[in-house]
Amino acid sequence: MMKKNLLAACLLFFGASSMFAQTSLKANVSLEQKVNRLLAQMTLEEKVGQLNQYTSDRLATGPIAPNSNKLNEIKQGKVGSMLNVRGAKDTRMLQEAALQSRLKIPMLFGLDVIHGYRVTFPIPLAEAASWDLDAIELSARIAAKEAAAAGIHWTFAPMVDIGRDPRWGRVMEGAGEDTYLGSLIAKARVHGFQGKGLGDTSAVMACAKHFAAYGAALAGRDYNSVDMSDRMLWEVYLPPFKAAVDAGAATFMNSFNELNGIPATGNSFLQRHILKGKWKYNGFVVSDWNSIGEMIPHGFAKDNYEAAQYAITAGSDMDMESRSYINNLVKLVKDKKVPESLIDDAVRRILRKKFEMGLFDDPFRFCNEERENAVLNSVEHHKAARDVSAKSIVLLKNENNLLPLSKQVKSVALIGPLAKSEVDMKGFWSVEWQHDHLVSLYEGVQSKLGDQVQLLYAKGCEIKDSVQTGFAEAVATAQKADVVIVAVGEAFNMSGEAKSRANIGLPGVQEELIKALYNTGKPIVVLVMAGRPLIFNWTADHVPSILYTWWLGSEAGHAMADVLFGDYNPSGKLPMTFPRSEGQIPVFYNYKNTGRPLVNERAGNYRSAYLDMPNSPRYAFGYGLSYTTFSYNDLKLSKSTIKGNEIIDVSFTLSNTGKYAGAEVAQLYLHDQVASVTRPVKELKGFEKVFLQPGESKVVHFTIDREMLCFYNQQMKWTAEPGSFKFMIGGASDNIKLESKFELTQ
Ligand code: GLC
Repeated sequence: MMKKNLLAACLLFFGASSMFAQTSLKANVSLEQKVNRLLAQMTLEEKVGQLNQYTSDRLATGPIAPNSNKLNEIKQGKVGSMLNVRGAKDTRMLQEAALQSRLKIPMLFGLDVIHGYRVTFPIPLAEAASWDLDAIELSARIAAKEAAAAGIHWTFAPMVDIGRDPRWGRVMEGAGEDTYLGSLIAKARVHGFQGKGLGDTSAVMACAKHFAAYGAALAGRDYNSVDMSDRMLWEVYLPPFKAAVDAGAATFMNSFNELNGIPATGNSFLQRHILKGKWKYNGFVVSDWNSIGEMIPHGFAKDNYEAAQYAITAGSDMDMESRSYINNLVKLVKDKKVPESLIDDAVRRILRKKFEMGLFDDPFRFCNEERENAVLNSVEHHKAARDVSAKSIVLLKNENNLLPLSKQVKSVALIGPLAKSEVDMKGFWSVEWQHDHLVSLYEGVQSKLGDQVQLLYAKGCEIKDSVQTGFAEAVATAQKADVVIVAVGEAFNMSGEAKSRANIGLPGVQEELIKALYNTGKPIVVLVMAGRPLIFNWTADHVPSILYTWWLGSEAGHAMADVLFGDYNPSGKLPMTFPRSEGQIPVFYNYKNTGRPLVNERAGNYRSAYLDMPNSPRYAFGYGLSYTTFSYNDLKLSKSTIKGNEIIDVSFTLSNTGKYAGAEVAQLYLHDQVASVTRPVKELKGFEKVFLQPGESKVVHFTIDREMLCFYNQQMKWTAEPGSFKFMIGGASDNIKLESKFELTQ
């Protein structure tokens, strides 16, 4: 009898508490009260369940550990989040399972919506080449709208890792090598993804990743160790993450790499001291895929029990796919190795986001199939994709002004392994591409020119094998045409995660194909489609017209045709330095002068130079041409000496001196000439993208303020030091048109 009463009492308690939990959540109480009231209802096991994230096995984006019991664990409240579940229908089904748990806490659904959901946008590195922050924000906004309509609450983006090494395949996901540009793009992407704010049904939680310094992997080899000074970390790699915090990023993701000997996942300095301490971050941190468990092969934890202890102690709130938390945290608390307060802090951070997303009010508010069908793949979304795609294309060369091509051309030969490719336009990390029609270059040109042009085609060769038997047909095809357009580059899976390459030349025999076509003497333009800077020195030296078109997504072919035939005048500028050789890497624009600088390209003796190659890259950061030309004149400074927080207004006249309307990205660089810590020869501190009609001029202003002059001194204090500063303005980091100096006196 006693046992029955006890059982009845327990059932009554748990039953009442789950109803209480639900009803009290409806009451008009503050967010923190709601979080704390729910937390108070939770058992330790339920709390740990919130910290556990599983992937759907069908769409895994990492190495999976088979686990057929996931659905039961979801019903038992042991899974706080799922990733790689797509669609209103599937997310609804799994959310229904989560609501069978005692406290009915809904799950978060996360997905790598890196450059579009249904409509695929250009890869992030390509969009960075547009230097158009509004277009970049719009791209993220549309990706969020589509993802949110498909049941997704959370995107694992933006990736804000600074990338200075093109051997690292993940440069395609970021914004390139520069901290200033990368920070502005991080802000634009967070704002795009989160829109009007969490709770809006078109907003998804952003996730700044990978925290931190993942892009500095030794030798450009993915997942490799990172070792750098605090100054380099704080000056170059952390600011885009801080920009993401300031932009309100709902979540962070830590990185696979160790930093100075400590894996990021177990790195209290990064996650507790900097992110949650100094930056007062109140979102939550999800580990990268299995990275908690990977502290074992790192040699930092002896087993998952220890890995879980180190990770939760260091501030990793949610465990993606390692099962270290779900299998060990309860025991760690009972063994008094981990205070329950740490678990509570992590659970609060996650519950807070679930409340903010409105999931307790309506767990299915993102699971509406009608809305999904209405929102995805709209004409408006495709139009925005075509616009930002054209803006992302970089004109590297256009001698003799072969471009833009005339639409009255009689015959065009489209040649190369990427000329008709659709699948390679999607790039890496694309989501619903298989349901989307990706426009190839061939289709784009065909659509542009209609049937009055004779469009010839030959593949010529494969992307990465050594067979040249297709060259003869390609040459014969070229000889029949008025102009030859050659499409070369990487396959969609040759850049991206786990895609490091020691040799970043054009793969296979593609450059040999270009040579063969060049030797026909026909007018030729080469388009390079890739996820990273590639090396193609012969082509760069010989071919008169070259466009770098990256991987442009759904509207690739239309955007390339718009540029080729002059409906869009290319305005892109490189967000990363293009080396002449892998031997130069790392090579970037904001280098130090050294004590023995190279005064000019002649090596000479005892200079910081190579015997066998110039120091200069093939193409510099910020470089990109236009079909028109621009002049920079009438430099004016409001003052040449400042002190304290005084500012200088710098103005100049930018003119379109050519015959095509077009946009120029005027860039402002600064150099602190003498300081207590050596400073880079130049650092980007401002830019303006200005559209001008032929003959039109505009006075452009930059404001120089004290913050721009600051750096970390020998005591790692962020400060500006009196002295002489040079500023430079131009259309590329190696193409300065105007420069002058000013003094900071105190
Ligand atoms: C991957 C990536 C990370 C991604 C996550 C989920 O390994 O490193 O960027 O968000 O796993 O797919």
